[in-house]
This record gives sequence, C-alpha cells and structure tokens, in this order.
Amino acid sequence: MQNFDNVVIFNHPLINHKIAILRDEKTSMKEFRELIEEITTLMTYEALKEGVPTVKKTVKTPLEVCEQSVVLDNAIAIVPILRAGLGMVNGVHVLFPSARVGHIGMYRDEETLEPKEYYCKLPDGIEDKLVLLVDPMLATGGSACDAIDLLKKRGCKNIKFMAIIGAPEGVSKVATTHPDVKVYVSTLDRQLNENGYILPGLGDAGDRLFGTK
Ligand code: PRP
Ligand code: URA
Repeated sequence: MQNFDNVVIFNHPLINHKIAILRDEKTSMKEFRELIEEITTLMTYEALKEGVPTVKKTVKTPLEVCEQSVVLDNAIAIVPILRAGLGMVNGVHVLFPSARVGHIGMYRDEETLEPKEYYCKLPDGIEDKLVLLVDPMLATGGSACDAIDLLKKRGCKNIKFMAIIGAPEGVSKVATTHPDVKVYVSTLDRQLNENGYILPGLGDAGDRLFGTK
C-alpha cells in the first residue's frame, strides 16, 4: 500500500500485544470487549496529540500562579459506527468523560458489501467539535467513507477516524476519498477475502463484542 500523509499506522508493541489476544478465536467476549476499550484508549492518547482545541487556564499551585493549557470544555464528540464502534466508546470516555456521543447505524449488505445507513443521531453543535469517528474494522472502507460524508453534510470540519484493524483496500479508500480526515489504524492487515472480511483479521467484531454468533 502507498503511503498517505493523512494515515497513521501505529504498529506499537503494546497495542500489537493486545491485538494478538484480540485476534485469538479462543478469547472470551468479556476479554475481547476489555481489549477493544484498552486499545482505543491507547490510540486516543496518541491520536489526540494534535488537533485538540485547548485554552489557557490560570492555576494556583502551592508555590505560584501559572498558565496551564487545558482541553476546551465540550470540544470533543465521539461517534461510533454501530454496532462494533460502540465497543470503543468507553475507551475514549476514560480520557474525556464529558465527551458527547453521536451514533451512526450502518450495516454492510452481505451480497454487495455496500453500507446501508439505518440510524443517525448526533449531538447539538457537533459541527464545532473535534469528531472522533470510531469503528474497530476498516475493511472495504465503504462504511467509514459514508459515515464521514454524513458528518460533513452536518457541517463537521474537524474529523479523525480511528480503526483498530485496517485492510489496505479500506485504508486507501478513506485516505483518498477524504484527504482532510486523519485516519489512525493500529495495524494494517494483509487483504480482504471474497466476503469482504479482513485477513488475518479477528472475524466479525460486532458478533464477538456482543455474542451474537
Ligand atoms: C463491520 C464493521 C464496520 C464495517 C467495515 O460492521 O464494524 O462498520 O463492517 O466494513 P467496510 O469497511 O467494508 O464498510 P457490519 O456491517 O458487520 O455491522 P455490525 O457492526 O452491526 O456487525
Ligand atoms: N467487519 C468485521 O467485523 N470484520 C471484518 O473482517 C470485516 C468487516
């Protein structure tokens, strides 16, 4: 896959260690859910190194008064792509407990692999926030691209997308369709299979998070 200026592939040893457990078919639903949250927190910490609206606050320490930069109140919204994106919300909330949450419901048509939108509820004023769009799996890229289109139609200008596992096809599609959106992926997998599943991947993230299969 070519390099894109707007794509960051973490390949971090601590995250990779957790992804190995996440991939394992024997990992329980509870552990899977916990790992998705932990990885999301680590990714958020790194992804929010830049682009976060901050203000200066005056703080009185026991020794003197200083100016300290803090994250602007109400500056961040988390938007999971349902269902599997829901598993990442707590991982961001650990760092930003007051972040508002919007929901975009999408499922892939099993034949065409085209995403179908079935739900959208976004927080008031989302257009002025940094939007963290989250979904553990970036396969063909159709769901992420449509979710970003939808956010842009609502006026969002500052969007970051985080996925835990990406396929080259999906990463390239999002990066080229939305060059203004920074894409963070923990690990880049080899390819998609004929059913649009990521190889080696981890299977169906929604089913593993919610125990539906
Ligand atoms: C999965 C995943 C993404 C999408 C990725 O969701 O969580 O949303 O597929 O595939 P794409 O990049 O090819 O669009 P799915 O459609 O299986 O719905 P679910 O989360 O409700 O299981
Ligand atoms: N969605 C998933 O949950 N897993 C994949 O491998 C591809 C799409």
